[in-house]
Amino acid sequence: MLNIAIDGPAGAGKSTIAKGVAQRLHILYLDTGAMYRAMALKALRCGVAPTDAEAVPPLLATTEIFAKNVEGVQHTYLDGEDVSGLIRTQEISKAASDISAIPAVRIKLAEAQREVARLSDVVMDGREIGSYVLPKAPHKFFVSASVEERAARRLHELRSRGEYIEKTLPDVMDEIALRDHNDSTRAFAPLLRVPDAIYIDTTFMTIEQAIDAVLSRLPNQTEAKE
Ligand code: DC
Repeated sequence: MLNIAIDGPAGAGKSTIAKGVAQRLHILYLDTGAMYRAMALKALRCGVAPTDAEAVPPLLATTEIFAKNVEGVQHTYLDGEDVSGLIRTQEISKAASDISAIPAVRIKLAEAQREVARLSDVVMDGREIGSYVLPKAPHKFFVSASVEERAARRLHELRSRGEYIEKTLPDVMDEIALRDHNDSTRAFAPLLRVPDAIYIDTTFMTIEQAIDAVLSRLPNQTEAKE
């Protein structure tokens, strides 16, 4: 199977890049962050704090999370409900980062992600795909950009959706720095740049350039020519 792992911090553009690479190769794209977001939504709906390492694990037995591609767009299902439209808020971003620090959550979601990679060619993006979920993936990338650039992109994205109009760049830089800190310092499977991952700094790149940078590093590129 062609398994491509793309890791990196929040706002580095990895999901857009991963999606673009998958489209150009005509293979599946799996947004693993959406699965953590769905789990965070589950906890909040159950009145459980996403930081509560005692109360979250018992929820796992009765939680079903899966992702399905519908015409190239990922839809994420929580207990049979399509929650794709509910998991992109700032509240869920923070809750997902918190809940992802709980090992039992990671073990369950990583298993589901490995199963996808076992069955299909896939581009998977996340924080620890190359280090923990698919350590044997033959193609690993670590995508990043400066905190300021990542914050500017996030602000633009939020504003284009009409959210957080009142936030300033320094506010968003603080949020991103906090998420980076949470994601990189958790004890279990943190955000990690493994030595065999190819590093791509997207600070001064367009999305197309970043996609090309990934594709050009794949040996025997299988991109279907239009
Ligand atoms: O990529 P994202 O912003 O949708 O991810 C939301 C949170 O989920 C992120 O702060 C960390 C966590 N996450 C993770 O720990 N491992 C992944 N493979 C993907 C996301």
